[in-house]
Amino acid sequence: MLKIALSKGRIFQETLPLLKQAGIEPLDDPERSRKLILDTNREDVKLVIIRASDVPTYVEYGAADLGVAGKDVLLEYGGQDLYELVDLRIACCKLMVAGPVQMPTLQRRLRIATKYVNITKGYYADQGEQVEIIKLYGSMELAPLVGLADLIVDVVDTGNTLRANGLEPKEKIADISSRLIVNKASMKMKHQPVKHLVEQIAAAVG
Ligand code: ATP
Ligand code: PRP
Repeated sequence: MLKIALSKGRIFQETLPLLKQAGIEPLDDPERSRKLILDTNREDVKLVIIRASDVPTYVEYGAADLGVAGKDVLLEYGGQDLYELVDLRIACCKLMVAGPVQMPTLQRRLRIATKYVNITKGYYADQGEQVEIIKLYGSMELAPLVGLADLIVDVVDTGNTLRANGLEPKEKIADISSRLIVNKASMKMKHQPVKHLVEQIAAAVG
């Protein structure tokens, strides 16, 4: 049995064609079903539906053999017991520092709101800049508008969300796409089926 961890929405939708080319088709749609473990047309493959930021945890602990996670989530998680094997080139965006078009001059440390606390710490530490980081779980763009933070660190694709809120991208931290990750023990213990599936998915990426 192989379990593949996926999040609903963008990653599920964009992984579906790759899985299909690898001969795997879910029997349920996670947008309509309340099931968290989906059967597929293959008896030996199941899809586990979880939050995007939980995917590395499930794969690292072996609760799923494989998973699809954004590079942003992987950088933030920083786990040891997983292999990042294929760049799936889906859910592409950029991890950026962003803020108001007009930035006031500050007499104190910059305050930065983000759900990417570890990445943000590392980024500013590398620059030798001391900042205050405020952990949020979503809608980061709101923080500078209501005086919670001066800047945000978030993913940006079209830039529409920033523009709609009077913000602009300031600095790029990393280019992001989703990756196929594999549990290290599964790679050893289920070598043939895992390797075969990874190769099929890699071939589907082209
Ligand atoms: P969680 O539920 O754990 O908070 P999430 O709501 O960020 O996660 P999604 O919005 O489905 O989950 O995003 C999944 C991944 O898709 C992100 O980790 C990122 O790599 C990528 N992503 C996020 N927003 C965009 C976007 N606007 N355009 C392209 N890719 C994106
Ligand atoms: C993400 C992210 C930004 C937005 C950026 O949010 O947190 O808010 O997308 O995308 P943009 O640059 O194209 O506006 P979320 O996944 O909640 O929003 P989405 O599904 O509407 O892209």
